[in-house]
Amino acid sequence: ERLPEAIYAAKTLRQLDKEAALALGITGFELMCRAAEAAFVQLRSEWPDVRRLTVVAGKGNNGGDGLVLAGLALKLHWQVQLLLPLAPTQYLETLQGEAAEAWQWLQQQQLSGLLMIHDGDELPDCHGELVVDALLGTGLAGEVQGRYAALIDWINATGRPVLALDIPSGLECDSGNVLGRAVRASHTVTFIGMKAGLLTGQGAAYAGQVHCHGLGTPEHVYAHHVPLLQRVTPSQCKQVLPPRPRDGHKGMHGHVLIVGGNLGMAGAALLAGRSALRSGAGLVSVVTRHEHVPAFIASQPELMVQGVRNGLEAQAWIARADVLVIGPGLGRDAWAEQLLQQALASAKPLVIDADALHLLKHKHWRPSGLWVMTPHPGEAAMLLDRNTAVIQRERLQALADLQQTYGATVVLKGKGTLIASPGAISQLVSEGNPGMSVAGMGDILAGVIGSLLAQGLTPSAAAAVGASIHGRAGDLAALERGERGLLATDLLPYIQQLVNPL
Ligand code: APR
Repeated sequence: ERLPEAIYAAKTLRQLDKEAALALGITGFELMCRAAEAAFVQLRSEWPDVRRLTVVAGKGNNGGDGLVLAGLALKLHWQVQLLLPLAPTQYLETLQGEAAEAWQWLQQQQLSGLLMIHDGDELPDCHGELVVDALLGTGLAGEVQGRYAALIDWINATGRPVLALDIPSGLECDSGNVLGRAVRASHTVTFIGMKAGLLTGQGAAYAGQVHCHGLGTPEHVYAHHVPLLQRVTPSQCKQVLPPRPRDGHKGMHGHVLIVGGNLGMAGAALLAGRSALRSGAGLVSVVTRHEHVPAFIASQPELMVQGVRNGLEAQAWIARADVLVIGPGLGRDAWAEQLLQQALASAKPLVIDADALHLLKHKHWRPSGLWVMTPHPGEAAMLLDRNTAVIQRERLQALADLQQTYGATVVLKGKGTLIASPGAISQLVSEGNPGMSVAGMGDILAGVIGSLLAQGLTPSAAAAVGASIHGRAGDLAALERGERGLLATDLLPYIQQLVNPL
């Protein structure tokens, strides 16, 4: 099951909802029924033995989806426990539009299976084998409080599997931020279009497995709307990584120079060099501290390694390379500064990571050519003079601000890695796992991106495809051996597999 490529903003999704119904020649309520049916089909396929549901329905259209789903289950003589955020009479008075129609429709179903509608202060025991979360959808505005917060806590405390309709209650649609608290779903069935909040930031951990149903919305309806983000897909990777020409030679596949590996940090540069090799660069050389040369050669003889005492000694090596990757293990001392200065003076395409980002910021230096920056949220915070929590809360904003301020192609790492390039729709990589938050993973990514750049990909394609390959390699490695204890070098064989798409 493939998730769609395009990810839409909440305000676009509201418009798409209306246009979908129009294009299909159905009413809003009929579209709501389609959504509930799609979710019910998914429910029955995931949990074929379930016959008792608890549905928590809010007063908006997301609640309406839940009411219809409850009715569908009642029709099949299932038992349904319905929980509402307000006393029923009050609830009925506030229902509007399609949600009100959903309530009327529910009244006409086989109500003998309806266990109870709770209206007291004390929340009941959970009767369902499964909880359907239809409390708050994309219309969520502001912190969840009071009764809503209590219901979310209650859902999370039931210990039952949870199917969220459209988006887990409490998650902000575009950011994935938890507004106070949010439902932890096992599965989320989302309608009409993908939401960024299900794939990036905190949201990814709350959404569980995500399924997206277009509800029959024709393609032309989407064509009028600009997505908020595009997901990087394996087919995009395949498109920019064609099989190598049969008559190729190593000079055709680019020469990457890794600059880094200061005293005590040799490993970072070595990892970047190894991943650049495994992702297909024709030549990979490393400029590092003299002390590291023998170890580098012993551990990866395919690398050309040069020890340098200062920037001047690096010049000739920089001149020979097509692309420089600078930062992994670079340090921030005079040696590091000189090397970065030389790299910037070369005007070659650059991948700038780690310590080099710190130097760039504090020296107010800017590359003059094409470049890709690969900050993690902490580095993004440093680059934008914000704290990391703010970056994490507003990842899309941080991405756009980094792009604007620095003019680079930006890879903002973290859950749901984001890529921004000048003048293009930003991209999102939904792959990757918590096992990858360990030392050296960033160095591997910088090496892959540098290698792809050297093979002729544009900075935007190298960044997006590089991040996607890195995330997928991490998932494949974790699938085989587990997330805990995953090493950066475990990704290398999978990276090689993925840069050769079938
Ligand atoms: N706390 C409590 N209530 C809130 C909060 C909050 N923080 N934020 C919004 N609400 C209330 C609104 O006042 C409104 O009554 O929740 C309701 C809106 O919730 P939704 O059902 O998410 O929004 P709506 O626009 O009605 O429907 C969108 O409908 O198309 C379906 O499921 C799909 O998610 C989509 C939903």
